[in-house]
Amino acid sequence: MTKRTLAALGLVFLTATGASAQQASDTVAPERATGLAVAKVVTAKTHMVAAAHPLAAAAGEKILADGGSAIDAMIAVQTVLGLVEPQSSGLGGGAFLVYYDAGTKRITTLDGRETAPMEATPKLFLDETGQPLKFFDAVVGGRSVGTPGTVMLMQEAHNRWGRKDWKSLFAPAETLARDGFAVSPRLATLIATEGDKLKAFEATSTYFFGADGAPLKAGTLLKNPAYAETLSTIAAGGAPAFYTGPIADAIVDTVRMSGKNAGVLSLADLANYRVEERRPVCIDYRALEVCGMGPPSSGAVAIGQMLGMLENFDLKALGKDNPESWRLIGDAQRLAFADRERYLADTDFVPIPVKGLLDKTYLGERAKLLDGDKALGNDAVTSGKPEWDHAFNFGRGAAIELPSTSHFVIVDKDGNVVSMTTTIENGFGSRLMTGGFLLNNELTDFSFKTHDDGMPVANRVEPGKRPRSSMSPTIVMKDGKPLLAIGSPGGSQIIGYVAQALIAHIDWGMDVGEIVAMPHLINRFGPYDLEAGTGAEKLAEPLKALGYEVKMGEMNSGLHAIALSADGLKGAADPRREGVAVGK
Ligand code: DON
Repeated sequence: MTKRTLAALGLVFLTATGASAQQASDTVAPERATGLAVAKVVTAKTHMVAAAHPLAAAAGEKILADGGSAIDAMIAVQTVLGLVEPQSSGLGGGAFLVYYDAGTKRITTLDGRETAPMEATPKLFLDETGQPLKFFDAVVGGRSVGTPGTVMLMQEAHNRWGRKDWKSLFAPAETLARDGFAVSPRLATLIATEGDKLKAFEATSTYFFGADGAPLKAGTLLKNPAYAETLSTIAAGGAPAFYTGPIADAIVDTVRMSGKNAGVLSLADLANYRVEERRPVCIDYRALEVCGMGPPSSGAVAIGQMLGMLENFDLKALGKDNPESWRLIGDAQRLAFADRERYLADTDFVPIPVKGLLDKTYLGERAKLLDGDKALGNDAVTSGKPEWDHAFNFGRGAAIELPSTSHFVIVDKDGNVVSMTTTIENGFGSRLMTGGFLLNNELTDFSFKTHDDGMPVANRVEPGKRPRSSMSPTIVMKDGKPLLAIGSPGGSQIIGYVAQALIAHIDWGMDVGEIVAMPHLINRFGPYDLEAGTGAEKLAEPLKALGYEVKMGEMNSGLHAIALSADGLKGAADPRREGVAVGK
């Protein structure tokens, strides 16, 4: 469909410059590109990868073309992303995998989230006077580093569903690390804007800055022999070679010797790390089933709550340009966030009423709060009382989440589907580097406050616990078959990005190219965030008239999606970042 036809159908949001997504995604999307009209839709018959960097997508596609499984390709994609998009995810971070197995027709979710070290206490992010640290004072250095989970997740998934020899899957990233790759415009921009934080530690500074101290420029050929060595060790020895031995020793030394913000991660934390299989969280929405990652992620529960409330309204009839649709979506999101802040955390440590939170009767009651015709007042947005067999309650937490992360989607020739969101949390994580990869700052996803009004915060730091996440790798099922796989980076905005894309696809019939590119409107805490420089701005005045405070800003999603049908695969990559969809 041409842009003119889309415009005629009222389906196009033009950018301020009038540029189309097609133009932007064919070149390289600038770091701060704003929401664009549509992204290129790539079609394929047998297999496909949609990921945040062309080299990562190509590595995965080649594995699939050579007969590898979606899980084999996942390992190639992840290890290449850790090299070419090091600020977002990698061996030093954690990930959630939502996997559809075509053989068993089942969805399995694997939790490779970081854990808090056993020596960490709930006061990890409080200063000497008991006050929460400033965010970046907590992030930079070893204090924020949790036990990485991504390598164990790759191993666990490969043990279950891998087809190709483990070792061979590391070759694409190892070769690129030894031979070098061109620094992308996005990476160069992020290094340049990071400046001092990246210069705090020698290994990181040496890698991302030239001998003259200047930040690496786009196009520079960058080699990472330390990363190649790390990969070769894991390729030969499996995950145990990461969690014990010289790589583990170096991780612990780096964390513990990082100056005034040194951390407490130990060799025992690494040696004891486990990936957990979690029960997938699924909700029925308009005759489809939307499945994703349960706690410690809040993603699928919050999205499920939003959809469960919104199912009571005819969004299709209202349409995507109608402020009333956005009142309903925005306030459903605020109500979901009120529950999230009180209840969502690692279920291995705190009892969470997941079933009660997703119960359709409960959500029907919550949806009645949306029956008015104005924005909900802040006082009306409080957590609800889902049915629960535990007698105690939690205080509201306060976790700060700022943008980095990566999402990718893979479909293999047998119809197995990977939807995986992977992260080192903040851009460049803790800024600590060892073995050619960055270490996460995932522990800052915990609430810094331990108590609220005398009640413990569910998402407070505890030894061995996993910090609450917003990551929302999702697979939508229709009649027992996968219909759409999608997810995004974006901190706590991930929930809104993914929910909006699902509504756009399911209710408004928009295709994958449109849903990854459409302008964002997100409301988590009251003020409505609208994506600057896009058609979302047209809704600013109508939303103000409904009673919202409106904030215009950049909204740097990185949605990657593949739609599956009997006719084949359609994939698209968010034009705000540098990703692509490739397949055959
Ligand atoms: O797990 C989470 O929800 C966050 N650590 C993800 C961080 C993120 O997506 C940053 N985004 N652009």
